[in-house]
Amino acid sequence: MSTTRFLTGITTTGTPHLGNFVGSIRPSVQASLRPGVQSFYFLADYHALIKCEDPVRIQRSTLEIAASWLAAGLDPEKVTFYRQSDIPEIPELTWLLTCVTGKGLLNRAHAYKAAQDKNAAAGREQDDGVTAGLFMYPVLMGADILMFKAHKVPVGRDQVQHIEMARDMGASFNHLYGEHFVLPEAVIDDNVATLPGLDGRKMSKSYDNTIPLFSSREQLKKLIGGILTDSRAPGEPKDTEGSALFQIYQAFATEAETAALRKAYAEGIAWGDAKQVLFERVDQVVAPMREQYEALINNPARIEATLLAGAERARQIATPFMRELRSAVGLRSLVQAAAPQKAAKAAKAALPSFKQYREKDGKFYFKFVDADGRLLLQSTGFDAPKEAGQAIAQLQQNPQALQTLAARLAPVDGVAAADVQAALQALADAAAAVA
Ligand code: TRP
Repeated sequence: MSTTRFLTGITTTGTPHLGNFVGSIRPSVQASLRPGVQSFYFLADYHALIKCEDPVRIQRSTLEIAASWLAAGLDPEKVTFYRQSDIPEIPELTWLLTCVTGKGLLNRAHAYKAAQDKNAAAGREQDDGVTAGLFMYPVLMGADILMFKAHKVPVGRDQVQHIEMARDMGASFNHLYGEHFVLPEAVIDDNVATLPGLDGRKMSKSYDNTIPLFSSREQLKKLIGGILTDSRAPGEPKDTEGSALFQIYQAFATEAETAALRKAYAEGIAWGDAKQVLFERVDQVVAPMREQYEALINNPARIEATLLAGAERARQIATPFMRELRSAVGLRSLVQAAAPQKAAKAAKAALPSFKQYREKDGKFYFKFVDADGRLLLQSTGFDAPKEAGQAIAQLQQNPQALQTLAARLAPVDGVAAADVQAALQALADAAAAVA
């Protein structure tokens, strides 16, 4: 059976909360136990430096996250579990990728654009307070992924663009220097719940509304007691829709238990009683892990040894691969015979491509970019992915569709219509050549 490699990173800036457990830790640990998969999970502490300048917090968070994953059942014998900064080949690869990544591609990263928009709104200079680290974030992430030839990268929706960028970087490199990288795909599990926090908004450190995964029983009870509810009195029927309490319960309970709570809501369970039910159910899941967690967190030397052993395994892959990549770009011994240029294709023009995605407004969009990632066309929002797909198909089949679809295409500054037309034609010609 061929194995599929899964890889994901966790930025070490915070303390794991129930939302992280339900959205990431639990499904990832389960996925790592499936046959036919090889998993790489790592602590993205180089990424943490971009957001956090507090050394104590970086170290503490690394310890807490590692202990949480291990307590939740991650088996370091099965999963290659390591700390990013223990792999010097990662920053080395970052540089090679930096040299094949268009600056324009990075200009379009959501996180960078959001920082610029914020500055613009506040009347500041657009790159005010933006570090080169934030700008380069996607390249470091590309190196994480491409280094281990990951096929699948489980991430939240906000990270999908970064995986697309990693693909672009890998493709550019392959195109120039021969086939070295596997092009990764994002995996988003829609069945995994996004938990609401204490105030009903998404549970997130940035909203300060989290419930830590590992607090004491007493603390957990107190925090659950603080979940926002409406003012309905005991005996009055309650809505499960929009109830943070109900949604958190659902993420921890079985279907039958959830149905029972739904019934209790309809029958007017008092909020205090509902909170007690939730507390007991969450604690039932957390309690066995809590013991493990305490033992681990009090023995940092053991976690350190586990991470170093993971890094050693990871480097058994990274070190020889980096040697191969260095040689491919020409960083090689002067006595080594020059290998014939593997990428004979290098001269052949790369093709433009369509990219489909979904925005926060829930609509489906596509864009058309040239081989260097320059934006040529930008669609307006479609209600269904199928509609966006059909529009793309029309454009692929016939460049003239540009006119018929004009109303669905937002103008792109500084792009001549003739360039777009030519790019579509190039794509059509290439398709005809293959057919
Ligand atoms: N950027 C990711 C996040 O904030 C963390 C991360 C770093 C990552 N490198 C990665 C995720 C590589 C997947 C693959 O969630």
